[in-house]
Formats: sequence, structure tokens, C-alpha cells
Amino acid sequence: MNLKAIILAAGQGTRMKSSLPKVLHKVCGKEMVNHVIDVAANSGVNENIVILGHGAHIVKQNLRNNVKIALQEKQLGTGHAVMMAKDYINEDDTVVVLCGDTPLIKEETLKNLFKYHKENNYFATVLTTKVDVPKGYGRIIRDNNGDLLKIVEEKDANEEERLVKEINSGIYCFSGKELKESLGKLSNNNAQGEYYLTDVMEILRNEGRKVGAYEGSTIEELMGVNSRIELSKAEKIMKNRINETHMINGVTLIDPENTYIEYNVHIGKDTIIYPGTIISGETVIGENCLIGANCRIENSKIGNDVEVQISTIINSSIGNKTSVGPYAYLRPKSNIGSDVKIGDFVEVKNATIEDGSKASHLAYIGDAHIGKNVNIGCGVVFVNYDGKNKYKTVVKDNSFIGSNSNLVAPVVVEEKGYIATGSTITENVPSGALSVARAKQVNKEGWVEKKKIFDK
Ligand code: UD1
Ligand code: CA
Repeated sequence: MNLKAIILAAGQGTRMKSSLPKVLHKVCGKEMVNHVIDVAANSGVNENIVILGHGAHIVKQNLRNNVKIALQEKQLGTGHAVMMAKDYINEDDTVVVLCGDTPLIKEETLKNLFKYHKENNYFATVLTTKVDVPKGYGRIIRDNNGDLLKIVEEKDANEEERLVKEINSGIYCFSGKELKESLGKLSNNNAQGEYYLTDVMEILRNEGRKVGAYEGSTIEELMGVNSRIELSKAEKIMKNRINETHMINGVTLIDPENTYIEYNVHIGKDTIIYPGTIISGETVIGENCLIGANCRIENSKIGNDVEVQISTIINSSIGNKTSVGPYAYLRPKSNIGSDVKIGDFVEVKNATIEDGSKASHLAYIGDAHIGKNVNIGCGVVFVNYDGKNKYKTVVKDNSFIGSNSNLVAPVVVEEKGYIATGSTITENVPSGALSVARAKQVNKEGWVEKKKIFDK
């Protein structure tokens, strides 16, 4: 079957109190509307059509690029919203309607809905669930045989209908032809003065076409996000799902409640993650690593057997068996090799550090290329900026940079260059040379006595 999705996302989302359109708020690093688009695509939908209204321009810019768009200039109701996509719908399509603000809907649930819709030869099927407190939702009204009669909005419901605990999820499957025909027959003669998509059910049934209600969901995955409070609840649920997937795949999370991993992160087995750690973007972490506590790792690639303690790593890469931290800061474009040590209070930016090198403590390494087995002493500064421009430093294999030295870029330390502690290096260091660039020590015997420095 040709399966198309219409995703409703024209509403304003006033209760978010945000200048960002509601559906662009992120849950675990992905915009809500893109969650819905991805779930639809993964459950077999061939084409996604998103209905835009409020903030259409900015929403459009942030949508997955292969989706179609229809504009709903005035929000006259869910039925009216779907009508805006009618030119995209062919008679023999199966159309699923989803909402852009329900990011927790599961692939499996949609697949079950499509199956149920098809197997029963329904012209329209609504996804439902039962809840203890159905407040705010449309109620599913069934006849004596248990077949779907209609959906009644809370504001239009009588007392008896309000007691019904089976609610409309806002997710439906339709046959294209019947959907298009019945959209034209909707009226806005109801409590809210809107064109309700829900009325399609009753219209089709009255015309003698089979319609169904599939109770195949949970309230958790149908949760609509209308406020920051609901956004945080959705985030928590999504976070738990992501964390559980990692644990199922062989990752140890010491405290999953306090571990924050975005949807697009990959982690190898036997890696252990300590609490307070935030892993985001397109991050890949290898096997058997130890990460945390309190690390932030963003868009970075980390090899196997790596240890990272209380550090921040952004847009960088790290080889195997390297250790980072505590309190290291790898800023963008830090490419760290294998068997490297980046110790405490070391900051690296736009620098390559090859295998076996060490910067064990208190250093700034910016705009540099460091070869293999180089030792960067404590307190070394790569002086890369003259107030106007940035320059590069090259330190070749097996060199030794003594503690508290400054390498004033542009400068090259050739292989096995050896820099005496406390040097300020402004000229290139030849291969194998010792370079001392500091004032010579002078000892003045008896000076303290003579000057009576410590006399009262
Ligand atoms: C709708 C259903 C209700 C169901 C509930 C589930 C109708 C009439 N009612 O009610 O039975 O229980 O969803 O959450 O359909 N939208 C547009 N354009 C519009 C109106 C709405 O794009 O003109 C979008 C909204 O942005 C939102 C979605 O459609 O994403 C649902 O609209 P909303 O107004 O929240 O519908 P409910 O009143 O919650
Ligand atoms: Ca709603």
C-alpha cells in the first residue's frame, strides 16, 4: 500500500511561552516534529506531509529535508488542517494522520495500527487508549456491538459521554478517497466552531462505510506536549527509553536517572558511564570505556578502552586507550591519538596530538600539531594569538617541552627537540637540540645579610 502521513503542526503552542514554534522544541536532542517524521518513516510511511501555520518559515527550515509541506494560514480545526494536504492525497493512498507535538509515539504502535486498519478493511481507523482521567480528550463512542459510532469532543459531549474512558489519540488511518470526500462534508457547527477531523468517522459510518477504533496504545506514548512541564516529562520518558536501549546493548549506566544521552549517540559494549554525564549530537563511543562522572561529550568520536573523567569534549576525536581528565577541556577540532594522556586542567583546541604523547597537567595547546611520544610539561602554553591573528605550532616526534615553557607561534620544534623548563621559544628548534630561552641565574652571596632584609 502507498502509505502517506499528514503531520499536523500548524498550532501556536501558546502555553510554551516561547518565541520558538512548539514543534521545534527538542526532546533528547531532536525537534518534536522530526521525532514524529522519523517514527512515521521507520514504520513504513513513504511520504510525509507536514501542515504548517504558526512560525511556518522557521519550522520549514528545521524539518527533515525530504518532507512535503502544506500551509494552513488560519487554524480552523484539525479537519481543516488535513484538508490543506488534499492535493497530495491520491484515491488509493492510505493516509495516517499524526500530530507534530506527540514525540513519544512508537513505530511498533503505528505498524499495528496500519495492520489493524488493513486487515479489517476499514475506511477509517482511530487509535485509542483507555485512561482513568479522560479530561481534555475526545471520547470514543461505540455502539452495542462495540463498533465505533463516533468521536465526541469533550466540549460537545453530554454527561454520559464524558464518563467514557476510551479516548481519541489524535492518530488515525484513512483510505485516501473516502478521507478526501468526507473532508468536504465537515461542518463547524460545534462548541468550538472548528472543522473537526474526528467528524469524518461519523460521516463515513452514516454512509455505510466500515470505520474502526483500535485500542492499541498507551497514554504515555500519546502524550501531547503543550507546556514546558510536559516537555520535561516527555524528555524523561524518551531519556529512559534511550538509556534502556543502551543497557540492553551492553552498556553499564551506573545511574540511568542521572545520565543524559541524546537519540543519535552510539556506545560500544562494556563501556561504563557514571552519573551526571551528558552525551549529545553525533557522538560515537567505543567499547570498554569508562566515562564520567559529570562529563559532557558532544559530536565526538571516542575509541575503545578510553577513560574520560569529569571533562568536556566537543567536536573532537580520541583514539584507543587514551585517558582524558579530570577537568580537561577538548574544544572543537581536537584530534587526539591512541595511548595519549591529556591530564588535569589541560585545554586543547584545533590541535592534533599523535599516539603516545602526554600533556599530564595544566597546559594550553591551541592551533598545533604534536607528533608521537611528545612530552608536554606542566604549565606549557602554546601562544597562538597575537591579539589579531592565530598561528600554528608544530612539535615533531619524540620532543620534550619542559615545564612552564611558552611556544610562541608560528614555531616548529623538530624531532627530538628538547626545551629547557621555563623557556620562551620564539624561534624554531632544530632536531636533537637543547633549547634554553630564559635569563641565566645569578647568585649574589651575602646579599640578604647586607641589605638587612629580615631584620626587625
Ligand atoms: C484533538 C482531537 C481530540 C483528541 C486530541 C488528542 C479534534 C477535533 N480533536 O483535540 O479528539 O483527543 O486531539 O490529542 O481533532 N492543529 C492544526 N491546525 C488546526 C488545529 C489543530 O495544525 O487548525 C494541530 C495542532 O497544532 C495540534 C493538533 O493539530 O498539533 C491537535 O490540535 P488540538 O487543537 O491540540 O486538538 P485537541 O483539541 O487536543
Ligand atoms: Ca491537543
